[in-house]
Amino acid sequence: MTIAKERMDALQARRDEVKALASEDKIARRRAEGRMTARERIAAFFDADTFQEMGAYAHHHAKEFGMAKKRMPGDGVVTGVGQVAGQPVAMFSQDFMVSGGTLGEVHANKIVEAMSYAGRCGIPVVGINDSGGARIQEGVDALTGYSRVFRQNILLSGVVPQIAIIAGPCAGGAAYSPALMDFIIMTKSHAQMFITGPEVIKAVTRQQCTPEEVGGAVMHASVSGNVHFVAEDDADALRIAKRLLEYLPPNNLCDPPNHPSLTLDLTANADLDEAVPSDPKAPIDMRRVIDGIFDKGSFFEIQALFARNMIVGFARLDGMVVGIVANQPMFKAGTLDIDAADKAARFIQTCDAFNIPLISLVDVPGFLPGVAQERGGIIRHGSKMLFSWTTATVPKITLIVRKAYGGAYMAMNSKEMGADMVFAWPCAEIAVLGEEGAINILYRKELKECADPKARAAELMGEYRKTFLSPWQAAESGQLTDVIEPSRSRAVLSLALRNTINKREARPAKKHGNIAL
Ligand code: HXC
Repeated sequence: MTIAKERMDALQARRDEVKALASEDKIARRRAEGRMTARERIAAFFDADTFQEMGAYAHHHAKEFGMAKKRMPGDGVVTGVGQVAGQPVAMFSQDFMVSGGTLGEVHANKIVEAMSYAGRCGIPVVGINDSGGARIQEGVDALTGYSRVFRQNILLSGVVPQIAIIAGPCAGGAAYSPALMDFIIMTKSHAQMFITGPEVIKAVTRQQCTPEEVGGAVMHASVSGNVHFVAEDDADALRIAKRLLEYLPPNNLCDPPNHPSLTLDLTANADLDEAVPSDPKAPIDMRRVIDGIFDKGSFFEIQALFARNMIVGFARLDGMVVGIVANQPMFKAGTLDIDAADKAARFIQTCDAFNIPLISLVDVPGFLPGVAQERGGIIRHGSKMLFSWTTATVPKITLIVRKAYGGAYMAMNSKEMGADMVFAWPCAEIAVLGEEGAINILYRKELKECADPKARAAELMGEYRKTFLSPWQAAESGQLTDVIEPSRSRAVLSLALRNTINKREARPAKKHGNIAL
């Protein structure tokens, strides 16, 4: 039996309708801005011809404000699942050309359906945001739709990776869907994300600002910390999302995509012996240490523009995926401040959720002193790092490169905070605090009263350096697995990772801990 021609024609007509593009001038404007349409973004992201669209014919049933007669292809969002390098990934891509990509009840249902499919099937979700927000004509039904999207984001958190791309407007409460996901990629131009934009800010506070100042990609990547990656354009955003997927497992029950080599590379890297300047006050460039230890070209930095005193990112070590948490002494002397603590804590939690072992590289003189830090709650923010390290059950390896002072020593994951193995270079300084601070506290009175305080202080500091500013007290008290030559770091960490990779750590049953947020 063949299907009647009119039925086939009807199918084609429906297909044409959902794929209908906006007017020529709207498309021309978009192209001139170097931006893609919702479907072009999908085509550019997935392996050719692998996208299976879901619910393409869903249509709104709103009636108010002229909606009864309004046909809206796909209700302003394209959803489905496709293959990226042979692996399934779910996607929603908001279509700004259909009523501004606004979210109504059916639009929300489509997004929730794609996400819930991803949760059931254990596959990542990538969501492309390009929308005027809640569809005004649908009133509370639009808000209900957002509630359902947020709830689904939260239910999937820690189950499958969720990546948000902001490639257009993302205003008001709509910004909370990306904020509830694991990573946010934002295009440099034509994208804004804010809760209240310039108009509302001006009306309420009389402050003047541009959309870029309160919602641009560079601001969010460098100041607010909301955005993990700034993309040059749509194509770059899609490329970044695909690169992220190379390091992430499809879900929390799988390992990340490891490609271990058959034989471990145990060769020494002499360059690392030169990485530490002879002047203890000169900063070490931690990027050089990272490049010397991890597989060439594998380091993928996250939040590179935010809290630059802390480096986080994925890399491979002899083919195995790891998360790196490292101090960067080139900025703020590598101290821990509020932003650095938040950045590190979130990354540790992300890695733990997705079974990615953590390697900490330490050169930290302490927490950043200052009124703004104390008033801003550095105690609360710093505690997130401690909490995150100890709750993480993935393999955790620490390498102390130079300074590891006071509370910051623990916040970078000491043995007693839960590190499985801790290594230190011979130039490591593991102590309560540096020599100047220590001597000033211990000998304040004596130094005030003695004839030559400078000479006496130098003498005492020398003694302090000899006693405490080395790895040896920590090694003798059992806090170090080993003290190693810098040149052997790659070999030692590779071995440590292979030896620790099957770690299983049981914890007492509880609903959840109570991290200070
Ligand atoms: C219905 C909307 C809309 C909205 C835009 N449109 N926003 N329709 N509800 N929220 C429609 C326009 O009428 C127009 O329809 C089409 O989308 C394109 O919009 P333009 O204004 O022509 O485009 P542009 O000049 O590029 O400006 C885009 C924009 C602007 C910056 C997004 O439209 C805008 O400011 N919209 C309102 C944004 C907003 O305040 N949203 C509510 C946020 S609060 P036609 O038919 O002419 O193509 C929110 C609450 C969420 O979302 C709560 C969650 C808890």
